Amino acid sequence: MNREQRQAELQRRREESLAGGGADRVAKIHAKGRLTARERLELLLDSGSFQEIGAFVTHRAQDFGMAEKRITGDGVVAGFGNVDGRLVYAFAQDFTVFGGTMSEANAKKICAIMDLAMDNGAPVIGLNDSGGARIQEGVLSLGAYADIFLRNTLASGVVPQISAILGPCAGGAVYSPAITDFIIMVEGTSHMFVTGPEVIKAVTSEEVSMEDLGGAMTHNSKSGVAHFAATDDADAIRHVKRLLSFLPSNNAEDAPRRPCTDPVDRRAEALQTLVPESADKPYDMKELVRHVVDEGEFFEVHEHFAGNIIIGFARLNGRPVGIVGNQPRVLAGVLDIDSSVKAARFVRFCDAFNIPLITFEDVPGFLPGTRQEWGGIIRHGAKLLYAYCEATCPKLTVVVRKAYGGAYDVMSSKHIRGDYNIAWPSAEMAVMGADGAVNILYREELARAQDPVAERKRLIAEYNDKFASPWVAAELGYLDDVIEPRETRPKLIAALEMLRNKRQTTPTKKHGNPPL
Ligand code: HXC
Repeated sequence: MNREQRQAELQRRREESLAGGGADRVAKIHAKGRLTARERLELLLDSGSFQEIGAFVTHRAQDFGMAEKRITGDGVVAGFGNVDGRLVYAFAQDFTVFGGTMSEANAKKICAIMDLAMDNGAPVIGLNDSGGARIQEGVLSLGAYADIFLRNTLASGVVPQISAILGPCAGGAVYSPAITDFIIMVEGTSHMFVTGPEVIKAVTSEEVSMEDLGGAMTHNSKSGVAHFAATDDADAIRHVKRLLSFLPSNNAEDAPRRPCTDPVDRRAEALQTLVPESADKPYDMKELVRHVVDEGEFFEVHEHFAGNIIIGFARLNGRPVGIVGNQPRVLAGVLDIDSSVKAARFVRFCDAFNIPLITFEDVPGFLPGTRQEWGGIIRHGAKLLYAYCEATCPKLTVVVRKAYGGAYDVMSSKHIRGDYNIAWPSAEMAVMGADGAVNILYREELARAQDPVAERKRLIAEYNDKFASPWVAAELGYLDDVIEPRETRPKLIAALEMLRNKRQTTPTKKHGNPPL
């Protein structure tokens, strides 16, 4: 071959690789409202920054006529590039090539960028759209998945891993996204399940649609598998980019700080009257958070799941923080199985990447009932307790109102290494609320009383005077300060600054054994 021929060969192969499964298949997925793998990467990465690796890879399968069917690239586009100027590694499964299915050859490309991400300390973004294991490759394909699962696990807590589900994701294939830190699904076009509707019908006679079984809202609101629901591919990618803006590139770096235009000493007057006079009346914890954080921006995670607790990212003086807050608007903000699991994983994520945790507490306790007890609230609640105990990132807590029972201990209390614990004057900190306490403490007195109703009222008032306040806890030193609500932002920012170089260690061990 002379020089021209060599150049022509390169160009031909490049064009083949860029063409994927061809115009007809591209038209088919466009008609379904989905984008191609390359269009998605273009949206994700800064213009001109994408560098592809393995563009000329093909499979080596021989059976089922595969020897005659080779498509350059083999169904995965992988490489590296920048998002907002920061390095990321990304792969996009190409549904136009063998349905984006997992092969021995294309899995090697995914593994290669994961290895590079680990060696170089940058996030991995997976854009998933695949028919699952490539049937023609049999156990080779299963092995390929396992190679990825292992890398997902080893990378967990070292570099952030984000999965966008932009088409089918079935069978064991779901377990790679499940191990990653965040899952974004697209309403109407993405589906995740271990066994599909047909198999379910055959085995259990249950009839269910794809969407009901494993659509975006199912996994966002029912199963809690997905953290975000997007309206289309472009929206999903916007979610990925916004999420990345809060995250460090790896566990040894700080999260990126932004210039802050919101005054650090801003006093939010609205907070003075946000908590209603009556302790039984709800208010919106999200509104409270927005009054405190920079420019009122709260990027909520898991918005549609376990609404009795809110989690998400925000910034204080330009520095990303993780927010956890009990939500009095939903189930009075109680802790139950779902909310404990939801917050526990988030706390562990923030801790793994040393993102400071700000906890806003208003919790009447754990939800009573057989469903909760039989469902394992003991071990699920313990997950949140374990996560907060184990976390060594900066931990700041604001007791807004109720801090009752075991939930007081759990929600980043001073005793489990809370660094800066403050309360508003509306705080109530005790073993339980007045009603329950009076019933237990004064059962006999109430039975003997001439006017039990009046006596009960008197005893409740006495209990509330003593415990429905932050003062016992403040006197004991369980609180670092009691502040006016409007002071919350400046106080938290000052404490965050103080904790800037925090380093705390846990005993040397192989690993702990959290109640999974
Ligand atoms: C090989 C596959 C394939 C597969 C799809 N294709 N799935 N090829 N192995 N698993 C091919 C089709 O033959 C077709 O090729 C192209 O991909 C597009 O598929 P269509 O069926 O035309 O597309 P659509 O109608 O949109 O349906 C998509 C689908 C469906 C819902 C994903 O293809 C499907 O149900 N596939 C099987 C899914 C599955 O059961 N996978 C195994 C899961 S178990 P052409 O050449 O016509 O374009 C698993 C185990 C993993 O993955 C275990 C890990 C531990």
